[in-house]
Formats: sequence, C-alpha cells, structure tokens
Amino acid sequence: YVIGIDLGTSSVKTVLVNKEGEIKGEATAAYPLIQERPGYSEQNPEEWVNGTVACLKQLLQENSVSGEDIEGVSFSGQMHGMVLLDEQNHVLRNAILWNDTRTTKECREIEQKLGGKLLDITRNAALEGFTLPKILWVQKHEPELFAKAARFVLPKDYLRYRMTGRVEMEISDAAGTLLLNVPEGAWSEEIAQAFGLPEGFCPPLVGSTEQTGTLLPEFAQQCGLSPNTRVFGGGADNACGAVGAGIVRKGDALCSIGTSGVVLTYEEDKNKDFAGKVHFFNHAHPGAFYAMGVTLAAGYSLSWFKDSLAPELSFNELLEPVGSLPPGADGLLFTPYLVGERTPHADSVIRGSFIGLSGTHRREHLARAVMEGITFSLAESVALFREAGITVERVISIGGGAKNPVWLQMQADIFGTPVVSLKNEQGPAMGSAMMAAVGCGWFGSLKECADKFIGYGKTYEPIPANVEIYGRLFKLYQQVYSAIRSLN
Ligand code: XUL
Repeated sequence: YVIGIDLGTSSVKTVLVNKEGEIKGEATAAYPLIQERPGYSEQNPEEWVNGTVACLKQLLQENSVSGEDIEGVSFSGQMHGMVLLDEQNHVLRNAILWNDTRTTKECREIEQKLGGKLLDITRNAALEGFTLPKILWVQKHEPELFAKAARFVLPKDYLRYRMTGRVEMEISDAAGTLLLNVPEGAWSEEIAQAFGLPEGFCPPLVGSTEQTGTLLPEFAQQCGLSPNTRVFGGGADNACGAVGAGIVRKGDALCSIGTSGVVLTYEEDKNKDFAGKVHFFNHAHPGAFYAMGVTLAAGYSLSWFKDSLAPELSFNELLEPVGSLPPGADGLLFTPYLVGERTPHADSVIRGSFIGLSGTHRREHLARAVMEGITFSLAESVALFREAGITVERVISIGGGAKNPVWLQMQADIFGTPVVSLKNEQGPAMGSAMMAAVGCGWFGSLKECADKFIGYGKTYEPIPANVEIYGRLFKLYQQVYSAIRSLN
C-alpha cells in the first residue's frame, strides 16, 4: 500500500491505496481556523501534526493493515500558508493561511519594488493569498519575532519535516510563494535579496515524486508505521487534484466546481506567457506546469441560491426542471461575483447580478442562469488559455459540476470541448498517493500511474446549436463586468 495525506484548510484526510489504485480505507481529522480579526486566517501547525497522527493510527487499525505493509507516504497541501521557523526549526508563530487577506499593502510594495521582474521571474501577479506578502507583513509588524526567523516552509512541508526531520520545500507548492523562479524551478535569489530575507531562508527544493527520507522512529511508532516507510515530496493541492483527475498530458484541462471553482490546464512550455492573468505554477510531473484560473463563488453561488430561494428542495429537486429550459434561460443572465472575482478581474469589491429578469421567469430560470453564469466565469479562464495559444482538447470535470448531467452538457456547450467526468472521483489525496506510488517505483511516471488508476465516465460532446447560442451570450456576459463596475 501507499498512503496519501491531504492537509486541507479545515481537515486532514488520509487514504490507503493499493497497487490497483483502489482506496482501501480513509480517515479524517478536523482542526479549527483561528480568525482573530476580520481578514485574518491562521492555524496552529501542531494541529496538523496531531490530526495526521490520529488519522494514520486510525487508518491502520480500522483496516487491519500492518505498518510494514505501507511502502510510501506522500502529501497534498493547502497552498501558500506561511510557517516561520527559527534556527532550531521551532515554529515561531501561527501559520498565516492562503485565505488570509491582511496583505494588500505588501502586495503593492512587491509590485513597486520588483516592477516587471515580478512577472518575468514568478509568472504570477502579487495576490494577498501568496506567501511573500505574508512574510513581509511579519517582517514589518512583528520585527522582533522576524529577527529570530531562520527559514520558512509551507504547511505540508512542515508536516513532512515533523515526520522525517528534514526541512525541504516541494516545487509545485514553492511555485505559490512569489519567491520561486517558476520557469526554472529554482529559488530566485534576486527576490529574496530585494526583501532582505536572510541567507538560507528558502529551504532546499525537492520534486513531487522524489524521496525525502524515511519516517523518524518516534513518529513511526506513534502511528504504528515502520521507520522504513519511504516519504515523498507530494504537491500543492491543486497540482494533486489535477494528478488525481489524470491531468498529466497536453490538451487535457480540469474543471473543478467546489465552493470556489478552478479551471486548470497542463502545459510543457515554460515560457508560456499569460501576463499574470491566470496563475502559472510548476506541476507535479517534472518539467511540466499548469495554468489555473479561479472563480471565487462557483458552487457557492448555487448553494446561496438554493439556501435563499429554495431551502425546502434538495439540489436534485432544484436542478430537475432546469434541463427542460433552453440554453440562455429565456434571456436571463447571471454574474457570480457574490464575494468578488479572482480570474480574470482580481476584484474583491465587485458584486453579482441578474440581468434581463422578466415576469415570465420562474425559479428554474434563475437556477439555470446561476449555473450558466458560473460556467461562463470559468469559461473566461478557458478563453485566456486559448488566447495564450493552448489547445484545450478535453475538459475533465470534477466536484459539484460533475454530479449533474445537465451541467456537464452545459460545460461542453459553453467551453466548446468534450467534457468527461471520472468514474471514481477521489480528489487531491488520491493524487498525492499516486506520487508515492510512482516514487516507490510501482510506475515509471505519473502518466503511467494515471493510465492504471483513473477511469472515465461518459463523454459529453458539445452540441453545435448550443455552442452557437452560448458563444453569443458569452460575449454579452463578458461586457457585464465593466458595465456594473462603473455602478458599484
Ligand atoms: C490557490 C489557492 C487555493 C488553495 C487552497 O491559489 O489559493 O486553491 O490552494 O488550499
């Protein structure tokens, strides 16, 4: 067996996977967010370690598996979180997480100081969620504490340090720090020096399927594992989600509709230029990258709608009549900016809208318009991929959008590509287990592993008449942002 550990924002999830790619057991443990002020979001790294120990113990016990049977362990991690360590690798303060938004000022400082170099080197725009702005915030607001800081790590890299005793950072996660030269897959000394970070502040880098030691005997004993268990780098949760959905070859893109929505595409050209409009990160597959756009309120828009206007219905009941309506919901258009928008507008102030509301519209028209609006927003990221010369041959859909056949067809019609769901969707934990499977030598590459582990469901082909209608509506949708921006 191998074990995948998905260190998420609200919980840690572990999965036990056999050589056939079957999940033979699962365990999860939740931990709290610490939100001392509006916009703050922190966590105590000790909670990650305790939760993981509890999960690993439970996973072995409940499935009557001996520690000796676990060949390897790997990780998927919530991205961007800052864990500051002193010279002895003690944690100096709570981790500041990806969804903490206190760092707007620091983002502007980074832009001013680095100018065009920021995009040249990191390929990403400075966003509040990323790590460097958090480091600068501590440098400015907690100077005495910062003076003790010898290095930083990301959440899953901290967990791996506690399991192995080795302080290392894995590349797909390091890509979200704004300290990595993303095309080269190496730390940017220029950026570290520009912000006065001490020598050695950025720990050595490792690859996703690369071994980073074995378990410390004390840790192994606590969980019932063997100290010979091999430990591998792992990846950022989005990279692991992509691997777990088989996004390991050119032409494939992922559409994931959870609370927020992500569209992501596999890329091999390190010089692909998106001008910072989408994120561009190193993928878990060595030498590969992925471009990623984010819709902040994706599934959230539909659950807001259901909770506010149809609390008595289940999702299935709400969506049941939607399929008999025509594309375009009889002239109703929705923009899903309920909590602002990330891609392509990076605007936290904008809010959503229904446009074209008429007396003939029923609740199902509004529901259809919400689904279409979410999908249009994701299609804006797909359009940016295409503008940069990427060919999207197929979209693999996961999450809420993959649970409903009407929505799957809608994605095919709006994206203008075949859309396919997974037979057995397992998420980032599975992606991380696949990294351990490759690391252990079960497969020669993540591609080979994906061929064996991942099965696909039905393919939804775009229907030409619908593609035509949605093509026209998408142009209207794209104009709504600037029109309502001037009113907000
Ligand atoms: C990616 C991002 C989130 C986190 C969630 O840029 O901020 O998807 O990775 O863990």
